[in-house]
Amino acid sequence: MTRRPVLARTYAELNAASAELLSRAAASHHAGHTSLGLVPTMGALHEGHAALVRSAREANDVVVVSIFVNPLQFGEAADLERYPRNLEADLDLLDACGADIAFAPLADEVYPGGEPMVRISSGALGAKFEGASRPGHFDGALTVVAKLLHYGLPPVPADYRAYFGQKDAQQLVLVRRMVQDLNFPVEIIAVPTVRSAEGLALSSRNGFLSDEEREAALVLHRSLSYLKEQADRHEPLDVKGALAMIRSVRQVDLDYLEVVDPVSLEPLAFNCQDTPFTGEALALIAARVGDVRLIDNVRLG
Ligand code: PAJ
Repeated sequence: MTRRPVLARTYAELNAASAELLSRAAASHHAGHTSLGLVPTMGALHEGHAALVRSAREANDVVVVSIFVNPLQFGEAADLERYPRNLEADLDLLDACGADIAFAPLADEVYPGGEPMVRISSGALGAKFEGASRPGHFDGALTVVAKLLHYGLPPVPADYRAYFGQKDAQQLVLVRRMVQDLNFPVEIIAVPTVRSAEGLALSSRNGFLSDEEREAALVLHRSLSYLKEQADRHEPLDVKGALAMIRSVRQVDLDYLEVVDPVSLEPLAFNCQDTPFTGEALALIAARVGDVRLIDNVRLG
């Protein structure tokens, strides 16, 4: 049986709904040991988000999905304005995935005093890669994630987990660091990237691509897969070859392709060298296709 999630517009409504559902769960089957899973999103939900919600559904008594387009993490006003919003469709998808509560606050609820003066600083980790092309992005994202993690805190004793996609690898690394560095009482769970049948990582921004651009964008995953095959065979990584693949596609304007340590995001020595690949790494890529910025990544090792 599926049901439409309860729509909570304010923290008070969220708190009341999660308290009730957790108490109900405690009273029925899991006496004394309940859990809540939070899935932070910006809406325009697709199968990538659905995978996070389903992971949360499998492991928790109560599943809360937040939907909030966070102005703080957008650079250009135009990008914020054109970000897709469709609450009705989002609620249908959450219904199908079995989410219990959709927390969709208005900006006044999240930032009652306007832009917050005190924010989370994402530090050096937040200044590279995505942070280099989008200054302030990760400070804005971490600030709202901190707030959402606080909003979602179970109001009665319960395990607390929050779900993030591997798709946004740098964001995931930063969220883990914030939770560790600032002692947030929550377990962060990573969910693998969901892709189209052709390999394009699902993203709310893919809808802005023309058919031709969509086709061109497949080279992102193709070049990452090329590196992954070499890593799986413990061969040297042919980063130059991967770069050449990307440069051969006219519509794709590469920002970076880098093989990095999965925790520090420091470039690794075998990047562009002849050393056989061992250990663990992340290959990160970002490119502009038309006027859409796309990111993707793959785990190596
Ligand atoms: P948003 O882009 O809506 O993504 C919400 C979550 O879904 C993130 O954890 C993201 O990594 C995950 N996700 C997106 N596409 C995915 C895919 N194809 N496969 C797997 N997971 C995917 O990321 C944000 O929102 C915001 O920065 C947020 C964390 C909500 C803070 O505002």
